[in-house]
Amino acid sequence: MRIGVVGLGYVGLVTAAVLASRGNPVTGVDVDVSRIQTLKRGKSPFFEPQLDERIRNARSNIEFSEDYSKLSNCEVIFLCVPTPNTDNRIDLRYVMAASDEIKKYSASADLVIKSTVLPGTARKVSELTGMNVVSNPEFTREGSAVHDTEKPDRIVIGGKYVERVRKIWEFTGSPIIVTTNENAELIKYASNAFLAVKISFINQIADLCERIPETDVNVVAEGMGLDRRIGREFLKAGLGYGGSCFPKDTVAVSSFAKQMGVDLSIVDSAIQYNDNRVPFLVERMEENLGTLNGKRVCVLGLSFKDNTDDLRESRSLMIIENLKRHGAIVKAYDPVVRNIDTIDLYDDLSKCVSASEIVITATEWKDFSDIDTSILKGKKVFDLRRVFDPKKVEIALGVGIGKN
Ligand SMILES: NC(=O)c1ccc[n+]([C@@H]2O[C@H](COP(=O)([O-])OP(=O)(O)OC[C@H]3O[C@@H](n4cnc5c(N)ncnc54)[C@H](O)[C@@H]3O)[C@@H](O)[C@H]2O)c1
Repeated sequence: MRIGVVGLGYVGLVTAAVLASRGNPVTGVDVDVSRIQTLKRGKSPFFEPQLDERIRNARSNIEFSEDYSKLSNCEVIFLCVPTPNTDNRIDLRYVMAASDEIKKYSASADLVIKSTVLPGTARKVSELTGMNVVSNPEFTREGSAVHDTEKPDRIVIGGKYVERVRKIWEFTGSPIIVTTNENAELIKYASNAFLAVKISFINQIADLCERIPETDVNVVAEGMGLDRRIGREFLKAGLGYGGSCFPKDTVAVSSFAKQMGVDLSIVDSAIQYNDNRVPFLVERMEENLGTLNGKRVCVLGLSFKDNTDDLRESRSLMIIENLKRHGAIVKAYDPVVRNIDTIDLYDDLSKCVSASEIVITATEWKDFSDIDTSILKGKKVFDLRRVFDPKKVEIALGVGIGKN
């Protein structure tokens, strides 16, 4: 099937590369000219495991362009442009601008919205373009996006005429739910909001553990997670959720519910707790140390999670800003992020650690749990992502560890 992908970011590029590597001829369009040039050189503009390999394998099936007219032969076009919030409400300007361009060259194609959009958006896009609009929300996680696209837990497809889209994803062998556009749109928000609630919930249980001797939130989470009704995923206590999705999607769905006169206070509470998480933990560290002023701190991990270089809404960057405001002298190490002007970045983990008196884990990279723990000797360790084994490393503050 001839496939177009509009918006070649974390979602669009992975979609394009995976579908091309499955033998579909794919045309990827993006307004960012420098991104297109990088892609034409066969490189991904960002770090995502397995992505470069898929792009290389699919080279003969995939073309990249900033020219929408190249989409004219496509039967199905995936829309993967950003859907940020403006004034706490979803901003559809990119979705509408891209849809408007697509209809000029490819009005007979199926227009498939992969971007996260609120219920009613597919209907609006259909009114604007006159096209068959299908909702096919994306559930991949950065860091495992290629795997998640090839082997998703489920595929959700909303719309009246969905056969071509269903056929495209059949290769995954995953369960496919076919439903209305509105259900598909809401499934995405309900899922992200639920996962955000799960994270804030376990972080509150972690706070409780810290008041109860002989407790450890990781053990509590394991005991909860083995119950299939609860599940183990997203029960890892830490610094709270960040990234380009959960913070914006929870706020967007909350304001959407308010507009509808509906109480979504569980989600509001998860958002509020998450917003306070970084300042709360910095305060805890300051209590522990007496003062952060003048302290040499090494922060391990900069991206919003492991296995990605995406810094959007990174809790690590927030904690660094907060530490600096408290007078700390901050250095950082990250396995893939390089060159941030405002941060003193090391390209060697052990050098970063040895130049500091305090070590903070801010992202769960395996590189950190694998380190030779002898380099932590004599350092104050604040394990905010629970990377280290508390039996092997002396921890000054480990999220969710009850003090004896
Ligand atoms: N990042 C994720 O892990 C993830 C997961 C699930 C869903 N989503 C959703 O998918 C959507 C895209 O997210 P992303 O993280 O891939 O975004 P991104 O910022 O990484 O990429 C978006 C791309 O769209 C391009 N673009 C913007 N306007 C355009 C236009 N008019 N025409 C063509 N290209 C245009 C940008 O240049 C950019 O390359 C969002 O709605 C997001 O909420 C993201």
